[in-house]
Amino acid sequence: MKYGYFDDTKREYVITQPDTPLPWLNYMGSQAYFGLISNTAGGYSFYRDARLRRLTRYRYNNAPLDMGGRYIYLRDDNKATFWSPSWQPTRNKLDHYTCRQGLGYTTISSTYAQIEASTRYFVPLDETLEIWELNLSNQRNETAALSIFSSIEFCLWDAQDDATNYQRNFNTGQVEIEAGIIYHKTEYRERRNHFAYFACSEALTGFDTQREAFLGPYRAWDNPQVVEQGQAGNSEAHGWSPIGSHHVKVKLEPGETRRIIFLLGYYENPPDQKFDPPNSQIINKQGVKPIITHYLNGDHVQTAFAALASYWDKLLAKFQVATPNEHTNRMVNLWNAYQCMVTFNLSRSASFFESGIGRGMGYRDSNQDLLGFVHKIPDRARERILDIAATQLESGGAYHQYQPLTKKGNDAIGSNFNDDPLWLVLSVTAYLKESGDGNILDEMVPYDNQAGSEQPLYEHLQRSMQYTLERLGPHGLPLIGRADWNDCLNLNAFSAQPGESFQTTTNKEGKVAESVFIAGLFVLAANEMAALARVRNLDAEVRHYQDVAKTMQSTIMEHGWDGSWFLRAYDDFSDKVGSKSCAEGQIFIEPQGMCIMAGIGLESGEAQQALQAVNEHLATPHGIVLHQPAYSKYYLHLGEISSYPPGYKENAGIFCHTNPWIMIAEALLGNGNMAHDYYLRINPSAREVIGDIHRSEPYVYPQMIAGRDAATFGEAKNSWLTGTAAWNYVAITHWILGIRPTYKGLQVAPVIPQEWPGFEASRIFRGVTYKISVKRGGPGNKVSLTVEGQAIEGNVIPLLDKSEVIVEAMLW
Ligand code: GLC
Ligand code: GLC
Repeated sequence: MKYGYFDDTKREYVITQPDTPLPWLNYMGSQAYFGLISNTAGGYSFYRDARLRRLTRYRYNNAPLDMGGRYIYLRDDNKATFWSPSWQPTRNKLDHYTCRQGLGYTTISSTYAQIEASTRYFVPLDETLEIWELNLSNQRNETAALSIFSSIEFCLWDAQDDATNYQRNFNTGQVEIEAGIIYHKTEYRERRNHFAYFACSEALTGFDTQREAFLGPYRAWDNPQVVEQGQAGNSEAHGWSPIGSHHVKVKLEPGETRRIIFLLGYYENPPDQKFDPPNSQIINKQGVKPIITHYLNGDHVQTAFAALASYWDKLLAKFQVATPNEHTNRMVNLWNAYQCMVTFNLSRSASFFESGIGRGMGYRDSNQDLLGFVHKIPDRARERILDIAATQLESGGAYHQYQPLTKKGNDAIGSNFNDDPLWLVLSVTAYLKESGDGNILDEMVPYDNQAGSEQPLYEHLQRSMQYTLERLGPHGLPLIGRADWNDCLNLNAFSAQPGESFQTTTNKEGKVAESVFIAGLFVLAANEMAALARVRNLDAEVRHYQDVAKTMQSTIMEHGWDGSWFLRAYDDFSDKVGSKSCAEGQIFIEPQGMCIMAGIGLESGEAQQALQAVNEHLATPHGIVLHQPAYSKYYLHLGEISSYPPGYKENAGIFCHTNPWIMIAEALLGNGNMAHDYYLRINPSAREVIGDIHRSEPYVYPQMIAGRDAATFGEAKNSWLTGTAAWNYVAITHWILGIRPTYKGLQVAPVIPQEWPGFEASRIFRGVTYKISVKRGGPGNKVSLTVEGQAIEGNVIPLLDKSEVIVEAMLW
């Protein structure tokens, strides 16, 4: 069952019914101002930080779901009926409905009582505002007299405080209404120098800014009193719940169309120029007024929308493919690339599943997100790397999260997730291979943002590696700390108190429990460090990293190999986790993927054995589960992993983030069929046809698909903000299609399904466009490369001084 279709030419997913199984989201904004928007116009907006600078309120877990958003009401003033053209919140039965989810914009169109309404929502590039462009058209053969009411509910900036601190909040709300523009200025009188504004292109019949006046006492958003009666109350909010609503009346002749523009935006004044006149309490609007005037002009809106479209043209052009598989093409060329941008921007902070309050930017998450993004805008990746590294601690350790607004590490969560530091090595080396910008390694970057502690970025990488070496356990494997990649494998928590955070509770000293996964990650990172040192001609460093990699590798083979697969860990009693000898949780996906990606067991056969075991024990038609058997009860010594019911999340769910590691591992062993088969199992486009089982958006990856132990096997949750986006992108583009950046040039080493006759790709790398055509001449993965008509040795295209390079690759 499908709820829409892909419009590949328009680069949109078209949702054809409003009551999708879950709200199907999209994101707006690319740099500082962001909003999430559902297919029925639900969602919220924020400036940089979904917690600290929230503009509007949103109630996800409401009944009905997805309440609060960018709602417009239309009222037939002759018949005194009203409806929501985006379906929510009135949920009238619409005669026709579509929602087009596009790149940074959402267009919701509907017809009701022969009034066609189409609203396009987007954030112009480099602006801190969003535009709602409403086009109305009268399909009746008589004049329509309509009232239009806009509506949003302001958040009092700190979303956490907004949702809890009512004794204060009910008193602080303040607005100004001037020339038909609604300004939200709660706390502007004291320490804030920012405000929000909500403007409309038309002359107003009225407005409202107090929620109760608009809705009426004890009424909800589906039935506002003002809309019902057809007359705004001109209410001014003093405390309680400030909202923004414009009331506009229009008369539309038969066939007539009308465009109405609404702007919602964020603006900051210099702290010493907050008020106008200076000794008043009135917002200084001199800076913001020209911006508002500019975007209330329809021509400027069209220009801004065109600029957004060409921005995406440029970004997507960095990598385009034509393969025999449409789901591969669609995800690589468009949706997966797009999702990588969104995860890069927002990490795990704000989605339908993440309230935007708790997480900020994850350290390990952001480093991984960068892997799928770096080729798009290397300069932004560079800036991100420096931000992340500046939160690193002198010990080489890392805050698990940091706030995007302050860029400071989050003390509430703290540190000691022992895998965290190593991911920095992967992101930095990915950036270096993509950009060739070795200077970044000499950038002086502080520790924990402390002035005076600056050291070159390269030193940060060295400390990241050292951090692991200084924390080895009884078997010589890395100590796990609070958790490794699997946030829920909490081997030192021993938490028996309800409500205690598994992430921050540590009841054990942490000197025993070890992670084979971190060991694998360490080897991978050490290999990267050795390769980097080689490029920099640091011979002693090359030897050092080769040595530590080799030692760790033999430790893994000695203590981390369970006979047919890699062990997961040793717990606080030094007992095995992820071993045949365990009652439950006998085999885990993570160490298989990570150790093989690090090259362990590739030649000696263990890698193939481990993948065989993954296939036998973990692979399902809906993807590969985290472990088997699932934990049937809570184990104090294992932590949160066993807190989830079997088949969900970290307890044997299909945690999609890890699946690409197995795809990469299969590709490293030359198994193109298997790698691509796994790729398709979780590919959202390929799962579109089972929309009633999958339930989440068919255009983006979810974090998790319920595993085979779950009652709802195959059901996806936590869409959008997941490391799955970056890793799938890396798996398909770097390893299956095999086009990957190296220090010396672009490498072409496809490991594709045998039945593919080949594929075409266009990749922009260091400013050069490579037109690559791959043809299969035999069943294998050996590559012969011809560059500009000349056969070359090996499979790395040398860096040439040209704008376009033609490459032919023959597989045999
Ligand atoms: C979530 C976290 C990520 C973690 C994963 C597995 O996706 O954001 O950091 O690795 O869960 O626990
Ligand atoms: C990760 C996990 C989740 C866990 C959370 C704790 O996101 O996916 O299961 O509860 O971390 O913050």
